[in-house]
Amino acid sequence: MVRVSVPALVEGKAYVPGLSREYVAEKYNIPMDQIAKLGSAENPYGPSPKALEAVKAAEGRIDLYPDWTAKALREAIAKRYNLDPDCVVCGSGETEVIAMVIRAFAAPGEAILMHEPCFPIYHIYSNCEGRRPVFVPMGEDFEPMVDRYIEALKQKPRIAFVTNPHNPSGRFIEESDIRRICEAASKETLVVLDEAYIHYTETEGGMHLLPDYPNLIVLRTLSKAYGLAGLRVGFGASANRDLILPLWNIKPTWNMGQVQVAGGSAAVFDDEHVEKTVKTIVEMRDYVTKKLSGLNRFRMVPGSRSNFFMLEILDPAITSTHLFNELLKRGIIAKDGLDIMKGGERYMRIDVNLKQHMDRLVWALGDIEASQAAE
Ligand SMILES: Cc1ncc(COP(=O)(O)O)c(C=O)c1O
Repeated sequence: MVRVSVPALVEGKAYVPGLSREYVAEKYNIPMDQIAKLGSAENPYGPSPKALEAVKAAEGRIDLYPDWTAKALREAIAKRYNLDPDCVVCGSGETEVIAMVIRAFAAPGEAILMHEPCFPIYHIYSNCEGRRPVFVPMGEDFEPMVDRYIEALKQKPRIAFVTNPHNPSGRFIEESDIRRICEAASKETLVVLDEAYIHYTETEGGMHLLPDYPNLIVLRTLSKAYGLAGLRVGFGASANRDLILPLWNIKPTWNMGQVQVAGGSAAVFDDEHVEKTVKTIVEMRDYVTKKLSGLNRFRMVPGSRSNFFMLEILDPAITSTHLFNELLKRGIIAKDGLDIMKGGERYMRIDVNLKQHMDRLVWALGDIEASQAAE
């Protein structure tokens, strides 16, 4: 047997994705169309129709190598957001851009700043690549505590991740605070503003801040409001070409296939699909907030501006894994807090979705409360 060494650090937990409908349907014998898939923050309306059409039209080109920098997609993104196409880098999902950023801008052993909790990929990749994640705690109900984050910037990390709105809490950081963070970061720190869920805040986000801050990169994904999680399209943008060129160089050469480029280029102009999605999510966020306010053993953490929220488990007799399994039995897939954060056994992350799924969630939590009271 050949024994290879593993210089990448592989300690710690791997990323835990949400479960599929098929798995739950089979295990619990529940019809697929009744299952509420509330663990992966996907789009309830499916893919952007414009993207779908473009994807079908692209099938005749899959025998040809794509442009190695996804030029057509960069140009579409640049047109949509008023950027220079040479200041855009595309990735097979935003996750790939995050991986490139970590490898390009921090050397092994160097510090990468992030909130605790945060999107786990930041620290999973940092650890795998031998970079050093440094965590800034959040306050009550996941308050971002921007002053504390700014204090931590004094240690001059190589990269500072800021997620807006935050995952997993959905908390929003105001533009004035984003500006304070960019201004407090030293020249040696790259600020990475991750706006994967920005559409759900009904703000324009931070793209227009780019010309003001040469050490800023904004990351976006088409997995959420555009409904293209399975296509794998994300991108990074900056006003500073010097931040984008290293990412082009480090990325796997043909990382964006013909189909991704075609679908992504059409999707960024599909405002209709995004508006319909955002309208429903915002309405349902208010709806479920009201509906869950009557619970005793559970509490929705207030302040989410995203398409998910944190549910706090108030009853000490219930753990997140117990609740996760009880929800599964009732046809609901959520995200166990333990899989996303330290101390997560008191929390679940749950998506906002169509009314029928929110009603199922409200019923299931009430039912779990009632059976707990009976024990
Ligand atoms: C905060 C955040 N950033 C980035 C991503 C990555 O999205 P994708 O790789 O699908 O583009 C996610 C996905 O869940 C996320 O939650």
